[in-house]
Amino acid sequence: MILETKNLIIRDYQDNDRNELSRICADNEVMKLVFNGPIPYSKFDEFVAENFCSSKNDIGLEVVCNKINNEIMGFAGFHRFLYYLTEEYEIEFGFVLSKKWHNKGFATEIGKKQIQYALNNLKCRKVFARAHPQNLASIYVITEKLGLKQASDEVVENRLTFISTKIHLTEQFYNFDS
Ligand SMILES: CC(C)(COP(=O)(O)OP(=O)(O)OC[C@H]1O[C@@H](n2cnc3c(N)ncnc32)[C@H](O)[C@@H]1OP(=O)(O)O)[C@@H](O)C(=O)NCCC(=O)NCCS
Repeated sequence: MILETKNLIIRDYQDNDRNELSRICADNEVMKLVFNGPIPYSKFDEFVAENFCSSKNDIGLEVVCNKINNEIMGFAGFHRFLYYLTEEYEIEFGFVLSKKWHNKGFATEIGKKQIQYALNNLKCRKVFARAHPQNLASIYVITEKLGLKQASDEVVENRLTFISTKIHLTEQFYNFDS
């Protein structure tokens, strides 16, 4: 799968991404509130095999690159999870960027494209995101920039759950293109 936005390419993992991506995954500042924390170098290949898109795993993570020079900026993608309120499996989107790219609007850019992809291509009826309650930057992007609403105050697996609202289901959001 390849997703393209105004500034970014989101594409499948390749072996030569290993050095840069494993550095981002091991960075405590970036990963402290994501998954179960930073991924040690020794566990990186296992992490990729379990979580990134592959022929066996079409719902997964991908590599986020800068369109200008192909620099690896982080990773983003989709994950199936059990939604505690309905006890049904749903798909969440998420994003992780290396520190130097924070606060430049890129997570918002990725998230809009992911919502469009989830609705149009994955045929989701609703979109979900989850974040650690202390992950204020992520919660701000999910709610204020992307317009999802907190499902409840319940923290499940150390995560709050956010869910799409009606606006995401409008024609305008389906056709988002930047
Ligand atoms: C969360 C993350 C993806 C946000 O990415 P980003 O590209 O910096 O996000 P954007 O630039 O689109 O938007 C960031 C917004 O959050 C705001 N923000 C930043 N830190 C914040 C904080 N501590 N509390 C509240 N808002 C905060 C910024 O001011 C900005 O809003 P503004 O444009 O209105 O000023 C990024 O910080 C990151 O990769 N963090 C580490 C991994 C992670 O936590 N991923 C999310 C997993 S759920």
